Amino acid sequence: MTKNYYITTPIYYVNDTPHIGHTYSTMACDVLARFKRLDGYDVFFLTGTDEHGQKVKASAEKAGVDPQAFTDKVSQNFRDLTRAMNFSNDDFIRTTEPRHKAAAQAIWDKLVDNGDIYLGKFAGWYAVRDEAYYGDEEVTTNADGKKIAPSGAECVWMEEENYMFALSKWQDRLLKFYDDHPDFIAPESRRNEIISFVKSGLRDFSVSRTSFDWGVRVPNDPKHVMYVWVDALTNYITAVGYPDMNSEKFKKFWPADLHMVGKDIVRFHTVYWPAMLMGAGLPVVKRVFAHGWWTAEGQKMSKSLGNVISPYDLIQKFGVDAARYVLLALFPFGNDGDFSHDLAVSKINTNLANGLGNLAQRTLSFIYKNCDVTLPAPGALTAEDTALLTKAQSQMLPGVRTELDRQRFDKALEIIFDVVSDANIYIDAQAPWTLKKNGDTARMNTVLYVLAETIRCLALIIHPFMPTSAETLLDQVAVDKSGRNFAALNADGALKPGVRLPEPKGVFPRIMDEKAA
Ligand code: ME8
Ligand code: MG
Repeated sequence: MTKNYYITTPIYYVNDTPHIGHTYSTMACDVLARFKRLDGYDVFFLTGTDEHGQKVKASAEKAGVDPQAFTDKVSQNFRDLTRAMNFSNDDFIRTTEPRHKAAAQAIWDKLVDNGDIYLGKFAGWYAVRDEAYYGDEEVTTNADGKKIAPSGAECVWMEEENYMFALSKWQDRLLKFYDDHPDFIAPESRRNEIISFVKSGLRDFSVSRTSFDWGVRVPNDPKHVMYVWVDALTNYITAVGYPDMNSEKFKKFWPADLHMVGKDIVRFHTVYWPAMLMGAGLPVVKRVFAHGWWTAEGQKMSKSLGNVISPYDLIQKFGVDAARYVLLALFPFGNDGDFSHDLAVSKINTNLANGLGNLAQRTLSFIYKNCDVTLPAPGALTAEDTALLTKAQSQMLPGVRTELDRQRFDKALEIIFDVVSDANIYIDAQAPWTLKKNGDTARMNTVLYVLAETIRCLALIIHPFMPTSAETLLDQVAVDKSGRNFAALNADGALKPGVRLPEPKGVFPRIMDEKAA
């Protein structure tokens, strides 16, 4: 039986250039997608851009171009980022594509048929910046009399004839769903937050607009366009072929295994979206993980402060793989965290350059120089040899798998770098250079073999995080294509003594840093 895995990022608004926050969400998904592929799954990894709504329209006007030309350009920036960061998404969806408009209109029709969308009158405090309405009790009044949403966005009173989504009638079914699916919302703190929000009562919400026209037309009532969130959330089913529910893709990949989102949009994904899906008679996604928020050097990132961190800066300073690594290594996934340049450099130098890089370089150049360019054969194994091999070959993968299934990237990395550290302790304790000097070639060969095999296992397990470096390391221990997956990450897949090894080259350069010096 084939195992399938469908993972999605948020689709990003095209009124911004991609920064470290967007890169982070997609990076987390890329690691999971790559991990699952290596672990034998058929993976569908989706990202894309959210291109409708008043904000985008306003940004286009400001730029003096029509909205389609504007979104074409900005969407391309997000697509370029996926290449620059070596993301392995299988599709890139844009909400302005015909396939998406068709899907959004199809789910709309379904929701109308089932009585979940009805025509009503809507009035409330509307924040353009959030594309959201707020109730009287949610807004506060500024000194100058302006109404302010909890997010800090300015609101205006709006009254519209609107299509409404009957969210209020879903309260009990949502609470039951959360109860039956304890893993649906993660982390736990977000789950508790959402449950108490839903328990406090749900209001129907407006799902169409007549005040602007940059959106998907409401079927049979073209003066309305769809509210941007109904349009946006639907992207997740568009990409697997909705409304064609008999397509191979839909049958294989829906419901999605994981929607990765930031904590800012968890309510849309865990309240609105499951209600929409249930209303349309579709299975609900299995899990939503809401990660935390980045600040930069201790400050909120903002265009006005000029401290927005670009992924291209990180790539330029650290290289792609180290940039990928550091995003997930700096703080626990799910928490808020800070980007500190000094901490990033120190993580990279400690774990990559001095840790794994040095281990590989020391081992492989020693073999290259002293073992006739071939991998030596091991003799009888000592307890130390077996301890390291067992960890690398048998314990590391199951541990990392468990952590990644819970989206605990930092814990997964800890397991990996714990083996790196053990291997560095091992090489110092076994001291192959001393064995050589003393003429104990048999023991030297065993130690070198154990180290090379450990490096093979490490190269495989870091692959989802740092694919290019992993490939280079696998080249250096002469692992062929068939050995480059997790089916080989065990004792059966061990390196064959006697293979020729290429000349080693450094994989993780040390970051020479002006500031840290
Ligand atoms: O909300 N720290 O798009 P968006 C961490 N189009 N993550 C961050 C971040 C930060 N400082 N800034 C942004 C939208 N993100 C909608 C989504 S989905 C159907 C529609 C990430 O461009 C994080 O994943 O505002 C957040 O949820 C997302 O970008 C918001 O992107
Ligand atoms: Mg946003």
